[in-house]
Amino acid sequence: MALPSAAQQAAREPARAALAAPKVPLAIGVSWYPEQWPEARWVTDLAMMKQAGFNTVRLAEFAWSRMEPGEGTFDFAWLDRAIAAANAAGMQVVLGTPTAAPPAWMSQSYPEILRVDENGMRAEHGGRRHFSFASARYRTFATRVATEMAKRYGRDARVIGWQIDNEVGPPSFDAEAQARWHTFLEQRYGAIDELNRRWTTQYWSQHYDNFAQVPLRAGGQHNPGLLLDFKHFVTATWVDYVQAQAGAIRAVADPRQWVTTNTMFWNAGFDHFAMHRDLDLASWDNYIPDGRPDWLANAANHDLVRGYKQRNFWLMETQPGRVDWVPVNRALDRGQTRELAWQAIGHGADAVLYWQWRSALNGQEQYHGAMLGADGTPYPIFDEIAQVARDAAAAAPALAGTEPVGKIAMLFSYDSRWAIDLQRHHRDFDPIKQFTAWYRPLRSLSQAVHIVPVDADLKRYPLVVAPSLHVITKPEADRLAVYVRGGGHLVLGPRSGMKDDANALWPQRQPGPLADLLGARVDQYYALDAAAPLTGTLGSGEASIWAETIEPRMKDVEVLERYGPSNGWLDGKPAAVTRRVGKGRITYVGAWPDEVMLRTFAQRLLDEAKVAPVVPDASAALEVMERAGGGKRVLVLVNHGDTPLRPTLPAGAKPVTGDLRDGVLPAHGIAVVALPGAQTAASNR
Ligand code: GAL
Repeated sequence: MALPSAAQQAAREPARAALAAPKVPLAIGVSWYPEQWPEARWVTDLAMMKQAGFNTVRLAEFAWSRMEPGEGTFDFAWLDRAIAAANAAGMQVVLGTPTAAPPAWMSQSYPEILRVDENGMRAEHGGRRHFSFASARYRTFATRVATEMAKRYGRDARVIGWQIDNEVGPPSFDAEAQARWHTFLEQRYGAIDELNRRWTTQYWSQHYDNFAQVPLRAGGQHNPGLLLDFKHFVTATWVDYVQAQAGAIRAVADPRQWVTTNTMFWNAGFDHFAMHRDLDLASWDNYIPDGRPDWLANAANHDLVRGYKQRNFWLMETQPGRVDWVPVNRALDRGQTRELAWQAIGHGADAVLYWQWRSALNGQEQYHGAMLGADGTPYPIFDEIAQVARDAAAAAPALAGTEPVGKIAMLFSYDSRWAIDLQRHHRDFDPIKQFTAWYRPLRSLSQAVHIVPVDADLKRYPLVVAPSLHVITKPEADRLAVYVRGGGHLVLGPRSGMKDDANALWPQRQPGPLADLLGARVDQYYALDAAAPLTGTLGSGEASIWAETIEPRMKDVEVLERYGPSNGWLDGKPAAVTRRVGKGRITYVGAWPDEVMLRTFAQRLLDEAKVAPVVPDASAALEVMERAGGGKRVLVLVNHGDTPLRPTLPAGAKPVTGDLRDGVLPAHGIAVVALPGAQTAASNR
């Protein structure tokens, strides 16, 4: 079948409207791999999914050898039957392209498609993700199978969306990757002399005469410009890989079928903001590998994923109890799988899909959590997940069209994170830990934090916190200055404004292009092996891991904190300063303060920004999440603790579903509550 032209496609619009996939406001479901089981079993599985209350299945994501059993020979008859059976059981379908698991015939006939690791080892067949992201031949095979699937299901009302590949990530170091790397650098810098300038290649005789001389497998200690650009290259290559399939699907499919790829929260492989620019929605896989949830850390994971598109997202995978890939695969406690689901929904998930329905009898993941045992009957977790589905069905009308509200933003930058990770200078300066050290008090005190990229529209946030904006470009600095002058409060943490996007030091001291706005500069930075005392208007406490001395250069700079006596260099020097500029304010904190100080500081920042939590005096165990939209305001409450709680809910709050009885939320209970006052919600956004 030839692809329809854009004009033909447009002419078909009215007919396509009739095919619009009926979407449910809250998708609850599971990954189902019908190709692993005899067809006679399918109807039983689907009937049991219906019994669990599911409305969604995800199919086909690793089934390439079944869909294309020989090169260019496609067999979709089985998938037709699986989709029909799923639909008959009331399930909407998400289709995965199978490209994380290429078939054996391809590895055998075209070994050059196989991934090569840093040590030059070519991957063997039989795992997954064993292809090279740079291979043109692989790209052709991948887009062809995506096209064939889209031709068959792209206008199928039973299919609501597409997941490209599965958790893309590992780069390859083969000859094609090397050639692409050189082309990438040429496009980025135009001329080799520009690369030489930005990377300062006069250092250690690194000067290059042409792009072909630049090593790809640089390993270990190398030029920081090269190492950061390698991350940019990997990002560009994966974005291109995913977009090749997205484009193939979109060329044929109904635009109401969304396209996503499932990702892994803080995964450092590529820039996730860039990856999502041209995808329809963000989706991610939420696992608690050791079975011991750190709820605030997991809240940050969700807020990060929401930030990829600054919209609601899908939880494409989560564990029914446990995983199978860490040293001790402890199951979540009873009730926590349900808590995990409601935490996701509260933070903006419009879907919770479990991985997986039933483990295959053989294959690498036999020990993973599943809903059914090898005998095909439910495991104990089945009932807990069925309860998630029941509550979701009851809450769906209230939650439809709502999304998380928030008045404060935190800036996350992949360049900054990578640049710090490449040269931590202090072993324990983990950029994610440092980010979440700030997130924790801000989130628990405000009950709503948006994590956004540096180029996000910040106007609606009175407070913007960048715990470590290490890499910053001049245009970014200029935009932040406009934000501050216009009335916002920008708070920068240590190591901010030190590098540009080629990982070169700014010739001004920190915060580099924002130093003039701050009216102060960092005089020197120190890695600490012992805590240094801090005193000032934020109270007394300690800095650990990192301390910078700040030199005010303008009279109107106010010193908030100073170091007490420690190494002589820090003694008495400013550690945190703030300055009013235009209608707003800029603050710089040059240390990693202890938890108590960060909390005091967070409270002060929120008070100044006039941001108050929707449920005051909430216990630390109570997670409060507000969603609003379409004239509605809804609270999702989760008691992560072991004792019952009595939250102070806003006047007029009405329970929609969950465990709230006479105002008491039991241990590990959840509640969805409707609030009056949509007008307030609108102004809250
Ligand atoms: C995910 C992956 C799934 C499955 C799962 C097990 O990372 O997307 O296919 O392997 O892990 O936890």
